[in-house]
Amino acid sequence: MSDQSSSAAHHNGKLYIETVGCQMNMLDSELVVAALRKDGFELTDDPKLADTLLFNTCSVRENAEHKIYSSLGRLKYVKRTKPQKVIGVMGCMAQKDQDLIFKRAPHVDLVVGTGQLAEIPRLIRETRATTSRQQQKAVSLGRRDGSVAAVSSSFQSYDPLRDPEMRPTPFQAFVRIMIGCDKFCTYCVVPTTRGPEQSRPPSQILSEVKVLADQGVKEVCLLGQTVNSYKHTENGRLNRLSDLMYGINEIAGIERIRFVTSYPKDMTDDLLHAVRDLSKAVKYLHVPLQHGCNEQLRLMKRGYTVDDYREMMHRINDIVPGCSVSSDFIVGFCGETEEAHQLSMAAIREFRFKNSFIFKYSEREGTKAATMLPDDIPEETKKRRNNEVLAVQNEVSEEDNAEFIGRQVSVLVEGPSKAAEKKAARGEEVVAGDPLATQLMGRSECDRIVVFDGNPRLAGSTARVEIRDCTGTTLIGSIVTREVQHGSNGLLPIVS
Ligand code: SAH
Ligand code: SF4
Ligand code: F3S
Repeated sequence: MSDQSSSAAHHNGKLYIETVGCQMNMLDSELVVAALRKDGFELTDDPKLADTLLFNTCSVRENAEHKIYSSLGRLKYVKRTKPQKVIGVMGCMAQKDQDLIFKRAPHVDLVVGTGQLAEIPRLIRETRATTSRQQQKAVSLGRRDGSVAAVSSSFQSYDPLRDPEMRPTPFQAFVRIMIGCDKFCTYCVVPTTRGPEQSRPPSQILSEVKVLADQGVKEVCLLGQTVNSYKHTENGRLNRLSDLMYGINEIAGIERIRFVTSYPKDMTDDLLHAVRDLSKAVKYLHVPLQHGCNEQLRLMKRGYTVDDYREMMHRINDIVPGCSVSSDFIVGFCGETEEAHQLSMAAIREFRFKNSFIFKYSEREGTKAATMLPDDIPEETKKRRNNEVLAVQNEVSEEDNAEFIGRQVSVLVEGPSKAAEKKAARGEEVVAGDPLATQLMGRSECDRIVVFDGNPRLAGSTARVEIRDCTGTTLIGSIVTREVQHGSNGLLPIVS
């Protein structure tokens, strides 16, 4: 994030926003910033300069919440000396903790849940208008606080305005296709923090993607907690995720379509056919298994067995050969035996995930697991199991990445790699002997991270890269250029 000027009059001062959590939160922050900029706020990445500070929060694990409470703690004295500053907590923790936030951090002015984000500009205005500084709260209903319809309508999908400068890159954008979750896995707070599952109308999604394409977006990432459960009936016709993808595939300017996160039970053949047949569909699925042991899956209430997952993997491999699959795992869940833990590692070896996110179980108040099952695995054991699962995944990733050595892949170039950015920040030359080149990063069609040397102007274009080395997380290659074929060292990409 950087200081930016906007065309609006800057009558509302500087805004700082800190975002943790998943892609949903990144998108929510983008939308809130867009609305506030329209209201005359100017973005800053320095909290000391800010007149308004917003924290977009996550509750999925305890440490995500700790992080926010310690950031808030640091502001206590700032607020004492500069009481006119507005401090707001938004997102999942705001919906979950509500008044507890005011109790733990009395200097907070605003608490705004995930379903009420549209209220933020008004609430900031009202907070500033009152001299006595009334604390303001806007949250949705709890899952048991009313009828399904009433609870659902208290969570508003918030997707009005977009802010190009808040995106991962200028040519990549998140698009929310659904909100909420109804799966109620026993360990998870998301059904509480994000409310009931609701799919957005396809016409709205398609027009949003068209606007994004007009703004230069080439890759859209469709978001939903269980994105492949998407369904919406419009004009008497049922639309599934596959139907939506066919629609987006037609939109000029869009080159890649991705979607996260998929739920194993809802991985239907129509979706796999769309991934196979649509030229713009990225050949990559994030379908968390969570555990390799049936008893653990049952206690988690995931709704499938390892055999069911295996059947799904066979269909993925049959229908979309070469498709990469990644997963999430929880280690140290209630009653996890050493044998059960071994089964998660066996599953990684069998299913050969491209990568996995591995989490130590964190008991969350209000979930079924917290009420019914003891959090009985010691922290030390959780740590060890986490490292062991990670080591197996790294081994598998490195072996599978090595298969790419000598092959060419098509890469959507995102920009300088993190390492190159750090070097450049220290004033060091990144590519020896070539001041115009830097180390670039992008992703292959199967979502593998690829780094190679090239001109930063290639960002946003598609390049062919020949892979010559790898690590567990990265393919390392050289760009294949027309000039190279003709014997010079120019950097024109072959666009595919
Ligand atoms: N909707 C997605 C996941 C959202 S949360 C899905 O169902 O796959 C992202 C990940 O956090 C989950 O996949 C899970 O692995 C992890 N997670 C969720 N709750 C957790 C908890 N209480 N402790 C540890 N990890 C958790
Ligand atoms: Fe949480 Fe399960 Fe819903 Fe994913 S599917 S958000 S893990 S309840
Ligand atoms: Fe966290 Fe909320 Fe996302 S709890 S993972 S920010 S949906």
